[in-house]
Amino acid sequence: MEKPLFVVRRASGSGANTPAQPPIVAGQGVTDRRSRPLHDLRISVTDRCNFRCSYCMPREIFGVDHPFVPQSQLLRFEEIARLANIFAQLGVRKLRITGGEPLMRKHLHRLIGTLSELRTPQGQALDIALTTNGSLLARQAAGLRAAGLRRVTVSLDALDPELFARLSDSTATVQQVLQGIHAATEVGLAPVKINMVVQRGVNDHQIVPMARYFRGSGHILRFIEYMDVGTSNGWQPHEVLTGTDILQRIAEVFPLERLPQNHAGEVAERWRYTDGQGEIGVITSISQAFCSSCNRARLSPEGQLFLCLFAGQGYDLRQLLRDGASDAELSTAIQSIWRSRNDAYSEERGLTPSGPRVEMSYIGG
Ligand code: GTP
Ligand code: 5AD
Ligand code: SF4
Ligand code: SF4
Repeated sequence: MEKPLFVVRRASGSGANTPAQPPIVAGQGVTDRRSRPLHDLRISVTDRCNFRCSYCMPREIFGVDHPFVPQSQLLRFEEIARLANIFAQLGVRKLRITGGEPLMRKHLHRLIGTLSELRTPQGQALDIALTTNGSLLARQAAGLRAAGLRRVTVSLDALDPELFARLSDSTATVQQVLQGIHAATEVGLAPVKINMVVQRGVNDHQIVPMARYFRGSGHILRFIEYMDVGTSNGWQPHEVLTGTDILQRIAEVFPLERLPQNHAGEVAERWRYTDGQGEIGVITSISQAFCSSCNRARLSPEGQLFLCLFAGQGYDLRQLLRDGASDAELSTAIQSIWRSRNDAYSEERGLTPSGPRVEMSYIGG
């Protein structure tokens, strides 16, 4: 796979040519060209993963000779924390740690510990969450929780052991993932969210068994429409099962009713079982895009700022960091980048995706 392209925009952020920016009022944040605030920062800490899900890292492309990002090119924890602090001053309230598989990054709990000490201009701690495939979670859950992690989302696409093995193309087992969910719950990371990417004709027969299994558990199962992220997975429109179809299949067995949004910009549409057995969600990026409220910035493992999950290019913050930019200069650069943002890929996509797009395993979903 070719590495994503990057744009280095020194002029937008540091040095004597920095354009004048309106001053940022503490706590009021910055908005983009579609008036969307900057609220979430998703931080990908590695592009490596111990799974090879075919819809994300097909083994033919992500084989043994795949050029993963070398250690020296990764943002160091202190660099991530420094940027996260600047983002928090600009309105970010939620940090989500992603990968690849974030639990493969050594000593991740140390990063969580540092991030948990950050404060907003109003003195509030940030909401720190993690998205993981769950296979390494059982042994790390307690340490992550103690370090300040608040929430965890675990990906699980099937309960059937053979299908799981085929989909994840790994030696991990469903049991290991369920143990990870259990461990997270035990240490107080509940409710756990569970992400199931639904592919028509591949794992859609697992929708109802998954719903049945997690009903009444207190966990929140979310069904994600299969998306055309990156260019490695050979995504085809007919492989998508829409949120409406997913809900219909569940409601035929377990009646559902709609729940209101928890907050503006929430990705998942919320539903509850009418018999009180809990909540589920559907994430409908294909059939009902939610770009108009998208308040998420994404930081790549190498410190590139991406403005959309489907962007082909990022903005090189690492360069600024390592060239000695001050916090004020970094803040100005980030504000300038966010103000220029006009991305709305899901709302604008044609039926046939085109152009270079960052890989999910690199930018973390
Ligand atoms: P919380 O609301 O804090 O629980 O987080 P979340 O729902 O954003 O968490 P999660 O990372 O689990 O997101 C669920 C999935 O939704 C991701 O894995 C992506 O597949 C998809 N998703 C999240 N954000 C976006 C986005 O901005 N655009 C698109 N198209 N898909 C997204
Ligand atoms: N479409 C939808 N979701 C995806 N994920 C990875 N690739 C895709 C895709 N092509 C999900 C993972 C995980 C989250 C980070 O994104 O399963 O839950
Ligand atoms: Fe790894 Fe998650 Fe991608 Fe699967 S979807 S290959 S678990 S990063
Ligand atoms: Fe946000 Fe891009 Fe996803 Fe739209 S497609 S919701 S702009 S990340």
